[in-house]
Amino acid sequence: MQSFAQKVAVITGAGSGMGRYLAILIAKAGGDVVICDVNDESLAETKTLLHKYNVAVSSHILDVADKDAIKALPEKVIAQHGKVDLVFNNAGVTFDSTFENLAEEQWDSVMDINLHGVVNMTRAFMPYLKDRPEAAIVNTSSIFGMVAVAKQSVYHATKYAVRGFTESLVKEQKGTSVQVHCVHPGHIGTNILSTAKFNEDDTTGPGSSLGLGDKTREEMGDMFKTHGMHPSRAAEIILKGVKKKKARIFVGLDAKLIDLSQRLMPNHYEKLWPIFMLPLFFLRNKKAIKDL
Ligand SMILES: NC(=O)c1ccc[n+]([C@@H]2O[C@H](COP(=O)([O-])OP(=O)(O)OC[C@H]3O[C@@H](n4cnc5c(N)ncnc54)[C@H](O)[C@@H]3O)[C@@H](O)[C@H]2O)c1
Repeated sequence: MQSFAQKVAVITGAGSGMGRYLAILIAKAGGDVVICDVNDESLAETKTLLHKYNVAVSSHILDVADKDAIKALPEKVIAQHGKVDLVFNNAGVTFDSTFENLAEEQWDSVMDINLHGVVNMTRAFMPYLKDRPEAAIVNTSSIFGMVAVAKQSVYHATKYAVRGFTESLVKEQKGTSVQVHCVHPGHIGTNILSTAKFNEDDTTGPGSSLGLGDKTREEMGDMFKTHGMHPSRAAEIILKGVKKKKARIFVGLDAKLIDLSQRLMPNHYEKLWPIFMLPLFFLRNKKAIKDL
């Protein structure tokens, strides 16, 4: 896809983090945006940030775990914008808990958002995308769709599944007008950890699975946000990947190196991380893109 100008892009999880900046960068490039999020307040903030761009914006309070709401969305988008060219299945959550302490409902809730949300959105929008001369489905997995750590079993189950689902779609849609992408971000400084759920029954501190030690939840969320790549930079990398038609889009050098670690040492990849990760702490671009 050469350009986002005059395109219509649907973005889930657009109230925060990478979703918000995907919306802003597409609007800046002249594309209309359909922003969706379960959180009405943060969605309204994104809408306000989009006012300065001369494009059509519609916002939808959407819980991607709600299959019926997803089924109803394409008709609304067509009524408002006349077409849809890109779908970014970006909304996601995490739950820090050992598998044993994770209740069935907690497991199901993450599966419904991170996996079934992606699948149901793809199913709902595919017929409309197929109508366009060029279109894209962009599904967000994670570098945690490549490697695993403890206390993230449900997150990994969803992100590995999004990767498998998306890579199969890449092959099915090859040679058609629909390009399909799987996004694997590394550490991006967003709200995902501040809003993450934790299991009180776990004896080790929250964030232990992510190597953040025994910090309070607030400290951990703040630290995660401060030290990650700025989400505007991440969104820029994702959009460049779409333009270049990259089926797999790694976001950040950490994501690339972690992927390399699992190729080099499939059973003990985490042993390479301290060596790989230390310089990245200083190299990562934590500043927002200027002039947004
Ligand atoms: N931040 C990272 O380091 C990182 C790394 C790898 C992958 N990811 C993935 O990137 C995607 C974007 O996350 P982010 O880091 O920007 O996080 P974020 O928390 O800043 O944004 C996620 C957005 O999704 C929304 N959301 C949550 N549940 C929803 C639901 N049921 N329906 C609709 N919207 C919902 C939230 O309200 C929020 O606005 C997620 O899929 C996440 O798993 C993030």
